[in-house]
Amino acid sequence: MKEQARVSSVVPAEVFMASSAQQLFAPIAADMKAVDAVIRDRLHSEVVLIQQVAEYIIQSGGKRLRPALVLFAANALGYRGIQHHELAAVVELIHTSTLLHDDVVDESELRRGNQTANAMFGNAAAVLVGDFLYSRAFQMMVNVDNMRVMQVLADTTNVIAEGEVLQLLNCHDADVTVEGYLRVIRFKTAKLFEAAARLGAILAGADETTAQNLADFGMHLGTAFQIIDDVLDYSADEAATGKHLGDDLAEGKPTLPLIHVMQHGRPEQAAVVRRAIETGGREDFPAVLAAIQATDALEAARRYARIEAERASQMVSTLPPSIFKEALLELSIFAIARDR
Ligand code: IPE
Ligand code: IPE
Ligand code: MG
Ligand code: MG
Repeated sequence: MKEQARVSSVVPAEVFMASSAQQLFAPIAADMKAVDAVIRDRLHSEVVLIQQVAEYIIQSGGKRLRPALVLFAANALGYRGIQHHELAAVVELIHTSTLLHDDVVDESELRRGNQTANAMFGNAAAVLVGDFLYSRAFQMMVNVDNMRVMQVLADTTNVIAEGEVLQLLNCHDADVTVEGYLRVIRFKTAKLFEAAARLGAILAGADETTAQNLADFGMHLGTAFQIIDDVLDYSADEAATGKHLGDDLAEGKPTLPLIHVMQHGRPEQAAVVRRAIETGGREDFPAVLAAIQATDALEAARRYARIEAERASQMVSTLPPSIFKEALLELSIFAIARDR
């Protein structure tokens, strides 16, 4: 397929996967260190439980993709200040707080290879510390003292919340369409990627067209990223993702692989998936997996993700050549070739 060929022409997927995440982040290694220092510094609270839960989730790692996106975008446009460290940390704290809340809602037990905060400290602590991280991120954002930045982050967090609520409404609904699914993932996931890239461009003083191109890059990247996350929920090695397989089915989430089976499978395959979405739980996982495999649903979803990644890469094609532009293109490959 044409799109696939062009994405792959940047860096072949196998080569990319062989190279470490460290290599992908090499051009921003020093910046990333500074971001980690900002995060550590801003986590401080006199309230012991806050400190404990916040450190627990932050120390467990995470890929740091969203802060990397802020840094790559700012650097690709020649930014020379240090505010991108603060905003990258803001974006990562917002992401972390949504994970704390998401794991409560999804009743997930494993995150970043550890027990989730809700499993470890209880739902109440996870929700409340999530609120702390959210509001701490907003304190930091206000310190940057840039109205455009505040607008972007206020709108973004609002849309993420809408996405999570929309997803809640879609749970156990087997009639959700591809469009309905895409709307949820654009809101809950792609919006923060979009904001991360846009913020980098805003800091660098980019014109509106360039900032919009970067934002669209983030939006398509985030969409591809979430489609692959949904594929990995049926196919990953748990040791790699650090998350349990089957969490989506347990919650009755109509994700792209399941929608594919219902639209393209035989009636009995569609019926298995429909029932599993409607009832939720883990009992139907083997039967659903068999239907997914028989209909090539994961490959179909991956194809969709590849098209989104290709759209992302087109959005940065006019940037001046630099290692940061190359890194943005590599990120679009990572989003679809990843196993974690
Ligand atoms: C998990 O995001 C939530 C999704 C949007 C799929 P990541 O896979 O980026 O999580 P960490 O930060 O690396 O743990
Ligand atoms: C992403 O969706 C959730 C957020 C955007 C917070 P998932 O529910 O699929 O994320 P994971 O799989 O739990 O990381
Ligand atoms: Mg979840
Ligand atoms: Mg998931």
